Amino acid sequence: MGYPHPSHPKETVLLSKHFGDPEARGYAGWVKRGGYEGLRKALGMTREAIVEEVKASGLRGRGGAGFPTGLKWSFMPKEVVKPHYLVCNADESEPGTFKDREIMRWTPHALIEGCAIAAYAIGAQRCYIYIRGEFTEPWAVMSAAVEEALVNGALGDDVFGSGTRIEMVLHRGAGAYICGEETAMMNSIEGKRGNPRIKPPFPAVAGLFGMPTTINNVETLAAVPHVLTRGAAWYKSLCLGNPKSTGTKLVSVCGHIQRPGNYEVTMGTPIRDILYDMCGGPPPGRTFKAVIPGGSSVPIMTIAEAESALFDYEGVVEKGSMLGSAGMIVMDDSTDMVYQIWRLARFYAHESCAQCTQCREGTAWTTKVLERILAGKGKQEDYQLLLDLSENMTGKTICVLSDSCAAPVVSGIQKFRPEFEAYIAGSREPALAAV
Ligand SMILES: Cc1cc2nc3c(=O)[nH]c(=O)nc-3n(C[C@H](O)[C@H](O)[C@H](O)COP(=O)(O)O)c2cc1C
Repeated sequence: MGYPHPSHPKETVLLSKHFGDPEARGYAGWVKRGGYEGLRKALGMTREAIVEEVKASGLRGRGGAGFPTGLKWSFMPKEVVKPHYLVCNADESEPGTFKDREIMRWTPHALIEGCAIAAYAIGAQRCYIYIRGEFTEPWAVMSAAVEEALVNGALGDDVFGSGTRIEMVLHRGAGAYICGEETAMMNSIEGKRGNPRIKPPFPAVAGLFGMPTTINNVETLAAVPHVLTRGAAWYKSLCLGNPKSTGTKLVSVCGHIQRPGNYEVTMGTPIRDILYDMCGGPPPGRTFKAVIPGGSSVPIMTIAEAESALFDYEGVVEKGSMLGSAGMIVMDDSTDMVYQIWRLARFYAHESCAQCTQCREGTAWTTKVLERILAGKGKQEDYQLLLDLSENMTGKTICVLSDSCAAPVVSGIQKFRPEFEAYIAGSREPALAAV
């Protein structure tokens, strides 16, 4: 596991500060490290004041879309006339992303505290944490931590004697990528098939069990206690120049790199610093070729684009991709881009819930065309076919799973066309047997 590189400024290490420290897992150890101060402070504030503080911090959702967290909370009805719910998205199925898992493994109380503050702020008495089915260790650690929090009064009918009731329910997923999509997640918690729902109605109006609901990612919620304890202005100051992207961000780095792992960086850190200073550059004798910066669901960047980009929401968009979940997949010059894009397409085809025709047919068709190219049976028309399929898969479905399949395909053809060309022209040995 990688931890922040010693050359990286220490003050930016918030979320990962106690990774690897077993004592921080327990309630007493967490309190000793300043834990639950944020919740105690929040309970003395009005709900509105907490929402304003989080708004002012500039904190944005770490699950993929980067939506402003305080603004999302402000959409919840002010009057609590029926149950409100908080759902914490701990599904983390995005390829190349493994940061939420570490928050739950090492600092479960940071997440519980963040959830409790958010629940109180949105008027919810119950929070569901939806944990990816394969996360056996995080599940065990979180289960023990919730028990401990209850025993110590950080959860329950009368949180820290404030009269506030906060109940936390852990819900285990069954390994479906689509259940990470917020509305599919709500269906899954309700015991239904995990199909995304059409919006509107938005969750803040009619979400879980038809009630007003807020859904936030693990990392988003784990950052909230820091906003409360140290203040919005301090949190907002954690950025390297761009006031629209604030705070620190966990980045999971994997692939062809010397030191893969989780790193915590200040928003706006140059991607170059992450790749070389923190992660030690490419394997010996190799050079970098490409980076997918936001899990697998975003456009591929050439290494030149990545090396000139800043790691924040706007910085990555400026270079033609998206920050997404900040799972950085790094590929060196040994990578067969066509093969890797096919593997991604196959993943999306497998994970499509099949509700929308464009997604059900498009992801499978894209996979087949890429298979044909890799088998040496591709045709010149296949470029246009892949681009047309991608066009029909973008912005036309209930959720963005099919957009996510199209993003690496379109950017791959645009940026690595000679590699496709070699298979189609027959100048490269087929990578797959003919289908
Ligand atoms: C197919 C799909 C899968 C997703 N998977 C996850 C996931 O595993 N974890 C996550 O936090 N968000 C995931 N999201 C994003 C969520 O729908 C939602 O935007 C997020 O949980 C909101 O939290 P935030 O505002 O704190 O980022 C996914 C979205 C889509 C379309």
